[in-house]
Amino acid sequence: MLNKIAELHKLCFPHKPWGADDFAELKKSGCEIVASENGFIVWRTVLDEAEIITIGVHPDARGTGIAIALLGIMENEIKKSGVKKIFLEASAENIPAINLYKKCGFNQNGRRPKYYDGVDAILMIKEI
Ligand SMILES: CC(C)(COP(=O)(O)OP(=O)(O)OC[C@H]1O[C@@H](n2cnc3c(N)ncnc32)[C@H](O)[C@@H]1OP(=O)(O)O)[C@@H](O)C(=O)NCCC(=O)NCCS
Repeated sequence: MLNKIAELHKLCFPHKPWGADDFAELKKSGCEIVASENGFIVWRTVLDEAEIITIGVHPDARGTGIAIALLGIMENEIKKSGVKKIFLEASAENIPAINLYKKCGFNQNGRRPKYYDGVDAILMIKEI
């Protein structure tokens, strides 16, 4: 299963692919991973906050609501353990991701200048 997620990750982040070992490490460190045939999401929960570590959808399956569904699954899971806030960082140039998060109720609450190879990071938060 982790090999399949790594293959998907490579298609989603070709310049910085994570291998199956990286996903195994994330699991070992307490991250949750949910994956379907064409998408995956990884998050970490600390006390009443959750951080989205990564999310990706196969290029051929985008625009069909898979990312929204994955975020919904995550939100249902973390609510059960009393999480009150979800936060994340995204590249300011990643318009699909920023639109996705806005659509799912996230608001911008900060900006890290030149965080990703010269591109700003947008910090976003959602209270649930
Ligand atoms: C960002 C990503 C996960 C979205 O996945 P997806 O399954 O295509 O998204 P959905 O179909 O659930 O779309 C939900 C909303 O996201 C936004 N969105 C998705 N793709 C978009 C695009 N190409 N341009 C603008 N907005 C887009 C829209 O608001 C969309 O709602 P709408 O269809 O009603 O307009 C996907 O593009 C991806 O894997 N990108 C590469 C990896 C990545 O950048 N991950 C995020 C790192 S922070």
